[in-house]
Amino acid sequence: MAFKKDFRWGVATASYQIEGAAYEADKGLNGWDVGSATPGRIFEGHSGDVGCDHYHKFREDVALMQKLGIKAYRFSINWARLIPAGTGKVSEDGKRFYLALLEELKAAGIEPWITLFHWDYPYALYQRGGWLNPESPKWFEDYAKVCAELFAPYCDHFILINEPQCFVGIGHQTGEHAPFLKLCTRDVMTVAHNVLLACGRAEKVLRKTCPHPVKIGTAQAYWPALPFRKEDYRLAEKETFTARAFGSVSYFTDPLIFGNYPQDALAWQKENGFTFPESDLSIIKSQVDFYGFNTYSGDYVTEKNGEVTRLTPPMSTPKTDMRWNVHPDSLYYGPKFLWDRYRIPVVCTENGVALSEWKDLNGEIKDFSRIDFMKRYLRALSKAADEGVEIEGYFHWSFIDNFEWAEGVSKKFGLVHVDYNTLERTPKSSAYYYQTVIETNGAVIEE
Ligand code: NOJ
Repeated sequence: MAFKKDFRWGVATASYQIEGAAYEADKGLNGWDVGSATPGRIFEGHSGDVGCDHYHKFREDVALMQKLGIKAYRFSINWARLIPAGTGKVSEDGKRFYLALLEELKAAGIEPWITLFHWDYPYALYQRGGWLNPESPKWFEDYAKVCAELFAPYCDHFILINEPQCFVGIGHQTGEHAPFLKLCTRDVMTVAHNVLLACGRAEKVLRKTCPHPVKIGTAQAYWPALPFRKEDYRLAEKETFTARAFGSVSYFTDPLIFGNYPQDALAWQKENGFTFPESDLSIIKSQVDFYGFNTYSGDYVTEKNGEVTRLTPPMSTPKTDMRWNVHPDSLYYGPKFLWDRYRIPVVCTENGVALSEWKDLNGEIKDFSRIDFMKRYLRALSKAADEGVEIEGYFHWSFIDNFEWAEGVSKKFGLVHVDYNTLERTPKSSAYYYQTVIETNGAVIEE
């Protein structure tokens, strides 16, 4: 059992999903504040307007994390709360909120991992063309600089942009997430490229501005291909890194780490008439200290008639409430493939499960399936660690039930239950189980 001694056992959340206080003080609007008001977009008209009201209840939440023995907390900054217009003036209220949260974490001995951007894009910038605007990487750089100045005194770990695969692909191509656009492929390529330029600029400005050396990494949406048979290993690895789709990890991390798009991405760009100046690649190329990945499942693949085939899972395969297959192998093969390709320490920046569950008549949430899920996935992760993959941490998604984007609050990912009428927090059985995982540095998962 090979979790390192200083393994980061954490939990993760994101600003729009938990903060609420959407209209507090001088906070600017973001794409989700505005977009969720349009009927039909979000399940049963839900929104994150109130969320878990973490904005007002963060002290209670940090106290609960401390009680559960959580070592690290990954959360994101709501860009328009900090800088209402996206650029320019910093909000005193936004600043006060995040500094108070960081103070609270410090007092509780919990290490903050800050995600700069987790999908709540300032609406004022969207009105100026959003990620299609050639100025957009610079806007992000300026925002990152403000974050570095304010928060680096408290924080050693920064994640640049959460899951570009989703807000680029699902936000700009299929239109199910903010900004709810259905652009042509070439324009989505422009968006993706500006996002990469933004990452590159932010990495550089963080290193320049932070008063001490910080660790900078990613949080990629990573759904690896898994070998169905032993001999499918290389095929699965290759399939995992194909880059002819915006859901690809190599499309977004090869440029960042190697300074170039993968060959198949370049060919795809050519077919769509997308070009960029060669000099952009040196802006994008960054020193990535940890490769953060968010993994929930993966697809088994095999070879049929010389072609790679994604297999339909057997009817017996357990499904989560998101209808995602329970495939613990994704936390074994996934990190192995990443480590072999990039040779950068990996961090599981998200993993968890949505279950259909509710408080029972005794006021408890006995989510034994979540405990089983965690055991199975963590066993897989520890096997990868045993085989030499450098794994620095695991962040369970999520600390608390929250707003699951287009699904509203109908999907429950939390270790802690929220009553959306009273906003009362109740740790589920899995929260106490995770506490024992942390206490034993993972040993308990073998029992
Ligand atoms: C990925 C996203 O980063 C997070 O916002 C989302 O809630 C979870 N996965 C679950 O879908």
